[in-house]
Amino acid sequence: MKEISMSSASRRSILTLAAAGPAAAMAGSAKAVPASSAGSLQSRPGEGRAAVITGSSRGIGAATARRLGAEGYAVTVNYLTNRDLAEQVVRDIESSGGRAIARQGDVADPAAVAALFDANDRAFGGVDVVVNNAGRMNVGLFAQMTDAAFDRMMATNVKGSFNVLREAARRTREGGRIISLSSSITLQRPAGGGAYAASKAAQDFYTSALAKELAGRQISVNAVAPGAVDTQLLRQHGDAALAGIPAMTPHGRIGLPEDIANVIAALCSNDGQWIHGQVVFANGGIG
Ligand SMILES: NC(=O)c1ccc[n+]([C@@H]2O[C@H](COP(=O)([O-])OP(=O)(O)OC[C@H]3O[C@@H](n4cnc5c(N)ncnc54)[C@H](OP(=O)(O)O)[C@@H]3O)[C@@H](O)[C@H]2O)c1
Repeated sequence: MKEISMSSASRRSILTLAAAGPAAAMAGSAKAVPASSAGSLQSRPGEGRAAVITGSSRGIGAATARRLGAEGYAVTVNYLTNRDLAEQVVRDIESSGGRAIARQGDVADPAAVAALFDANDRAFGGVDVVVNNAGRMNVGLFAQMTDAAFDRMMATNVKGSFNVLREAARRTREGGRIISLSSSITLQRPAGGGAYAASKAAQDFYTSALAKELAGRQISVNAVAPGAVDTQLLRQHGDAALAGIPAMTPHGRIGLPEDIANVIAALCSNDGQWIHGQVVFANGGIG
């Protein structure tokens, strides 16, 4: 999907916005940090717990679903259109010994979000972890951004996140975790990224308020703000647009979905309980 017409140079500058930083002394190929803590410090830490992960048919959401599934969480995999991919994530979790279901639902629709949580509750008895991940990125200069591109992005990122967090506030069990996907673009604030950055900044403000509202229930509420991560969200703008990112990052590689899943899993662990009301920048050291 490419909703904004931009020069390739502009597009590249938008896509590298999350990767600005000192040029890497050595550019390396993309390589995920292994999920080394899964099952090593605690055996299946998610056993007896359930997670709802919006937008988990692919990208960061899918990597998080596989990671939490491997840790013993029962996972509700949500998708918008890609049913086959969502069902593959379910099969992957089941083959690692876990339990999962796939449910279609547009986060922009409050009734669909309630139905998603209802399906989770019927299958797994309640929810302990909510990963508010579904999102879209439409970039473009102010003069070029269309109403349709702006409205669809805001419906998903701002209203959709609100719908998800409202259900999470009502349903997450004591001791749970609520994690929203923000972005390191809120630091860089590049030309052409204003609308997307505003939609991601909403996650930071939602997080601060909800953390205060839910602290009495021992629920930790945080946001994770990735830098550039190699997913369809960026690749929709053309593979060539990602080419310059590795040389612009301290580690010499673009982030991978598993890098972000690792951080989310750490926040979900028992050791993550005291991290509360924070925006955790997970970007390999850009900035
Ligand atoms: N990739 C990055 O560089 C990056 C950087 C910072 C932050 N983030 C944030 O991280 C989150 C995940 O990004 P990603 O890169 O993994 O994206 P992605 O690969 O494009 O995946 C998006 C996921 O969200 C789902 N989705 C989209 N709109 C939806 C809606 N209205 N209702 C329900 N599900 C919906 C998609 O479902 P279908 O497969 O069915 O379409 C898909 O599962 C987003 O919030 C994004 O803003 C990403």
